[in-house]
Amino acid sequence: APVFLKDYLPPAWWVDTVSLDVDLRPDGTVVSATLAVRRNPEVAPGPLCLNGAELETLSLAIDGQSLSPSAYTLGDESLVITAPPERFTLETKVRIQPDRNTQLSGFYRSKDGYFTQCEPQGFRRITWFPDRPDVMACYTVTLHADKASYPVLLANGNPVAQGDEADGRHFATWVDPFRKPSYLFAMVVAKLDVLRDTYRTTSGREVQLGIFVEPGKLDQCGHAMAALKKSMRWDEATFGLECDLDHYMIVAVGDFNMGAMENKGLNIFNTKYVLARADVATDVDFENIDRVVAHEYFHNWTGNRVTCRDWFQLSLKEGLTVFRDQEFGADTHSRQTARIREVRGLRAMQFPEDAGPMAHPVRPSTYVEINNFYTATVYEKGAEVVRMIHTLIGKDAFRRGMDTYFARHDGQAVTCEDFVAAMADASGVDFTPFMTWYRQAGTPRVSARGSYDAAARRYTLTLTQVCPPTPGQPDKAPCLIPVAVGLLGPDGRDLDLGGGRTTAILQFSTHEQSFVFENIDAAPVPSLLRNFSAPVVLDFDYQERELAHLLAHDSDPFNRWEAGQRLFGDLILANAARLARGEAAECPAGVIAAARTVLLSDSDPAFIAEALTLPGEATLAERMAVVDPDALHAARNALARALAAGLEDDFLALYERLAPVGAYQFDTADAGRRRLRNLCLGYLNELDRGGYRAQALRQFEQADNMTDQFAALATLANAGGDEGDTALAAFYARWQHEALVVDKWLAVQAGSRRDDTLAGVERLMAHAAFDLKNPNKVYALLRTFGGNHRHFHAADGSGYRFVAERIADLDAINPQVAARLARCFDRWRKFDTSRQAHARAALAALHARPGLSRDVFEVVDKALVEV
Ligand code: ARG
Ligand code: ZN
Repeated sequence: APVFLKDYLPPAWWVDTVSLDVDLRPDGTVVSATLAVRRNPEVAPGPLCLNGAELETLSLAIDGQSLSPSAYTLGDESLVITAPPERFTLETKVRIQPDRNTQLSGFYRSKDGYFTQCEPQGFRRITWFPDRPDVMACYTVTLHADKASYPVLLANGNPVAQGDEADGRHFATWVDPFRKPSYLFAMVVAKLDVLRDTYRTTSGREVQLGIFVEPGKLDQCGHAMAALKKSMRWDEATFGLECDLDHYMIVAVGDFNMGAMENKGLNIFNTKYVLARADVATDVDFENIDRVVAHEYFHNWTGNRVTCRDWFQLSLKEGLTVFRDQEFGADTHSRQTARIREVRGLRAMQFPEDAGPMAHPVRPSTYVEINNFYTATVYEKGAEVVRMIHTLIGKDAFRRGMDTYFARHDGQAVTCEDFVAAMADASGVDFTPFMTWYRQAGTPRVSARGSYDAAARRYTLTLTQVCPPTPGQPDKAPCLIPVAVGLLGPDGRDLDLGGGRTTAILQFSTHEQSFVFENIDAAPVPSLLRNFSAPVVLDFDYQERELAHLLAHDSDPFNRWEAGQRLFGDLILANAARLARGEAAECPAGVIAAARTVLLSDSDPAFIAEALTLPGEATLAERMAVVDPDALHAARNALARALAAGLEDDFLALYERLAPVGAYQFDTADAGRRRLRNLCLGYLNELDRGGYRAQALRQFEQADNMTDQFAALATLANAGGDEGDTALAAFYARWQHEALVVDKWLAVQAGSRRDDTLAGVERLMAHAAFDLKNPNKVYALLRTFGGNHRHFHAADGSGYRFVAERIADLDAINPQVAARLARCFDRWRKFDTSRQAHARAALAALHARPGLSRDVFEVVDKALVEV
């Protein structure tokens, strides 16, 4: 049954303190909880409702008295205590079975021990509790386990006692001084190695840092530790926010549904975002680790100190924290490439989501399963919404807004309105018209047209906006869209828009609005939506030469990149249409020349690489009325080949010029050079020449780092042929014992262009390297295949059937991950009727299965709703 935002009621009971005793035994874990409970005087008296799931209830008592059966109702997932006293102590004892917990929510077993994931509703799988984020309590936790098997016993906060017990067992007690919602609870009982360090805050607090990993992996923790310290320093410098803890621990676990989790003082991470060493992790991995470590650390303020009132407010903490980790990444690495990658990701993931059956506002108003709403919309579009606030009021007012937010709400569970109100009050700006962004789903489409009046020396820019209907929201209101605009003169320089300004932020808030620029001496080329100032689709009827002009000259690096993406994207779509009609693809000389200008420019290598990376198929498919994935794929490859043929000498020269000097190290400049060099290698291998295959194989064999080795592997695996098979076999033989490298090996095969990709994926399902119980393996093999545009959407329906069956298998093990996989079907209605029939049949078969989880049911049910 769906839950609605409008039904929110404050809790009838508060819990002030929680004391947990957790006893790990071979026949299960016994959790004894003592809760200090008190009536909330602000709401009408009502029963105390506690959540639970898969708990074996052993005993219940109030104030030391065992509860009489008439005093409560015990269901599978609820415990209702009818009329408790105003203030009392509730004692419960339950047994749970972490060894059988394959959902990886609550307390579960992984290779090296036991770990938790409680957000959003995992704590109820550990003990009876009002498992909602607006109930905040202070926790004391005592853990007992066998000492030899599980020497590490961790929980949130500070260690206050530890010691040995009978039969080779030991215990540890932790006290968390901060009130927190149950979703931030964590505990770890495991055998792990630890890398320790310390950090001194500006005000002089000494924080003990620890990163806990699988034994033997300490040499892969250094980068994460450095990232943690950088994040701490950055948050002090940027927002004046210091770490409030004596102990800050990160624990890496190989079985984890998501990326990482910000549990107070005890973050739990997917190994993927902790472990890195030059020979096993790529530059992208190193950079992602920086971002995720920063993200979880930043949550300590935006999420933990100020938390969410209810789960509809998820973007309050996620959108804001993603914005913060993006800014950290921009400051630490390259601002321009960071922005380009964010937008590329938004268009590949969030725009399709916003146009599909699961479309929802940044703040959803209803859900069936909250786990399905940890989405690109809540996270990435949510970050864009925060970024628009930043753009509208400027950096200084934004900082004052953050200060106001913490001054008002530290220690509270609040709403998105509370955040925006702090920004409004600190800046004096009325954000009422802006709130549409939180309420309304769908990507607004902005059309721009310009007209130049030479006699009046005036340029008029007229903007219109529409937002397509989304499920449950047929009619849309206009949004307040900040449109950053510059005007390029014929020499490529920015025109003065008044007072020396070269970029204007237009506040576009109605269906249609005109903006007038005076004193313009010649017809300009407009540079629209600079730095991607709003998450919209922008249409402007650019001529090819205007795009080449922007690509060569725009002072806004994002829009230089954007001009290239438009140029390539328009051509790929035109060629897809030609190929579908049986005509040949074309590549105008102007496009090759524009690409050459970028390739030979003295821009940052990372920028050049981004500019010459073609838009992805899923992104381009959004622009087609009926998607023809084969024509789209062929057209994209044809352009890659045409660029390779036209720029072969340039690519080769650059590949040689960028050869590494000295040993690998991860730094932004080196990473940019590697990226560009590997792009050159990829383009050269678009050409069917043995010499380039041999070059790739040489790089594969000789590289001293995973970035170059994996880039060569990917190039060869896509090219097909013997070199690809040789490299894949050698790669597995070398890295079969490094789980995260095996994931790369699976993904590169599942994402391959080769015609026999599905057969390969089916074979890999049975390979020793694959494990349906491990989310990373599922994401690497199955979700990558689901994102393989041409093969997932194969005309004969084989891709749909295969993935639907795997979703069914997986649902019995891990519904959250199964539901994520089901999202591959989001765009099935955009394809031709024959593909639609195959997809509908695969979805209907899934929908009809008895015992489907709520997670998968919601996704499949929404996908099948007639539109
Ligand atoms: N709050 C975590 C983060 O943003 C994500 C945890 C979500 N977990 C889940 N099972 N849905 O880093
Ligand atoms: Zn987060």
